[in-house]
Amino acid sequence: MKKINPVMISGKEVLPLIEGGKGVAVSDGRSSGAWAAAGAVGTISGVFADVIDDEGRVVPKVYTRKARQDRHKELIEMSIKGGICQAKIAHEISGGNGRIHMNVLWEMGGSIPILEGVMNSCENMVARMKEKAPEKYHEKIEAAGEKFQQTLGALRFNVQKRMNDAIPVVDGMMGEIKNLIHGVTCGAGMPYKLAEIAAKYGIYYYPIVSSARAFRALWLRSYKNCADLLGGVVYEDPWLAGGHNGLSNSEDPTKPQRPYERLVELRTLMNSLNLNHVPIILAGGVWNLSEFDEYIDNPEIGPLAFQLGTRPLLTVESPVAKAWQGCLRGLKKGDVVLQQFSPTGFYSSAVRNKFMDNLFARKDTEMPYLEKPETIFVRPFKLSESQTVYITDHDLKRAESYIKDGRNVVLKTPEKSIIFVTPETNAQIKEDRANCVGCLSACAFSAWSQANGHLDRLPDPRSFCINKTLNAIAHGESIDNNLMFAGHSAYRFGTDPMYKNGYIPTVQELVDALLSGK
Ligand SMILES: Cc1cc2nc3c(=O)[nH]c(=O)nc-3n(C[C@H](O)[C@H](O)[C@H](O)COP(=O)(O)O)c2cc1C
Repeated sequence: MKKINPVMISGKEVLPLIEGGKGVAVSDGRSSGAWAAAGAVGTISGVFADVIDDEGRVVPKVYTRKARQDRHKELIEMSIKGGICQAKIAHEISGGNGRIHMNVLWEMGGSIPILEGVMNSCENMVARMKEKAPEKYHEKIEAAGEKFQQTLGALRFNVQKRMNDAIPVVDGMMGEIKNLIHGVTCGAGMPYKLAEIAAKYGIYYYPIVSSARAFRALWLRSYKNCADLLGGVVYEDPWLAGGHNGLSNSEDPTKPQRPYERLVELRTLMNSLNLNHVPIILAGGVWNLSEFDEYIDNPEIGPLAFQLGTRPLLTVESPVAKAWQGCLRGLKKGDVVLQQFSPTGFYSSAVRNKFMDNLFARKDTEMPYLEKPETIFVRPFKLSESQTVYITDHDLKRAESYIKDGRNVVLKTPEKSIIFVTPETNAQIKEDRANCVGCLSACAFSAWSQANGHLDRLPDPRSFCINKTLNAIAHGESIDNNLMFAGHSAYRFGTDPMYKNGYIPTVQELVDALLSGK
């Protein structure tokens, strides 16, 4: 395998290895600090991060307010505290090595206030320290010496633009901020405003895209105004990566495309925009770097780093539960499925556990209906005393068999179809909707919308409450009955010799293995 050379990320030369951000609470201060400590890049998930108390325990997220809008505000407040808490932990563990990024999901509710809240707090914290102990500040800056100044150099231009002649103060402040979070990554949607926020706080930004076309749209709309702080472009393979996937309507979920040609297309576009020096970060399906030899030091692809999400789950520093780690070891090819149940409306990749099976089973009962008899929709079917719809003859037989099996509650979807669920499932759906805290900017499951409180469509019973299930699995609850995001390479834990006899490597061991091509 070719030698792996350092790459410039967020103003510092680091190993071209990144732990991808994983929400909720799957990449946290501990794991990202460890990646940074190893000279690589760690990414704290800013998606409703946990606050940790003085005893090292997770502070449960408790909502005290009644109205959904108010609970949404509580969620934002808790998330800002969580992001700051995890940033401090990561910073401490990193020992000043590597880089620490924060990931936000663009479509999560309150992504902008959360991001701004975390950044503001970092700034205020530094301002307070500066006021209380200015001498300590100067000492710190001097002691950090040449290297530190180089890092600041990359930032100075943008900082000056915002803060004019306050440069020495700003240098100190920005030094501290840079020591907490050096970059922001953002995907799942089209994060146009990311560049604006990055400029406001003088921080590097990393959009996550799955095609050159998506990057072109972001560039033209806003990134071209903030080219200096574009730290890298994450290309996330929409067929292979864990979590949400950026498959567009023109891409076939069953026909994966090799990343090579798509990366070349992205690089060609980036070069045409004078972004030759900006690294592309390849995410999705990265296991051994030796498998990407042809990509490394290849002028067609240019500066390159690798982002891993699934493989870091099985490390000592990963916060995921032992049961989750155990499950990963036993996965077979095909146990991770690409599906469209997420209330975000995006495709996503997760382990096909009982939770997934239930969603597939629910979806299997789906049938279209018409409000008036037409063509083959001639069989009347009563939804309630006052509402009758028309389904096909074939579907009427299916409907009768579902009802006979106990799936006797019929629910409408927003797409003129119905599904059949048990009374227990129906009760759960109702309860989850009632408990909605507005975690997404728009939620298909609850029909919540951050913009005006509700979407102009029916809530979708084929989907689920993502906030509830991701929080549950992240905090040690059932790995069978909750959503378990994973990439499509997860089956390799079972065959890779590194994990033989139940071995769990530290992040440092994994980084060493990656550098040696393993
Ligand atoms: C459990 C899990 C949760 C994830 N959550 C997020 C997330 O909140 N935001 C995000 O941008 N990417 C998320 N990802 C994607 C990762 O950051 C990473 O890009 C991806 O996992 C890389 O592909 P791989 O899984 O094949 O290594 C998640 C991935 C996993 C496995």
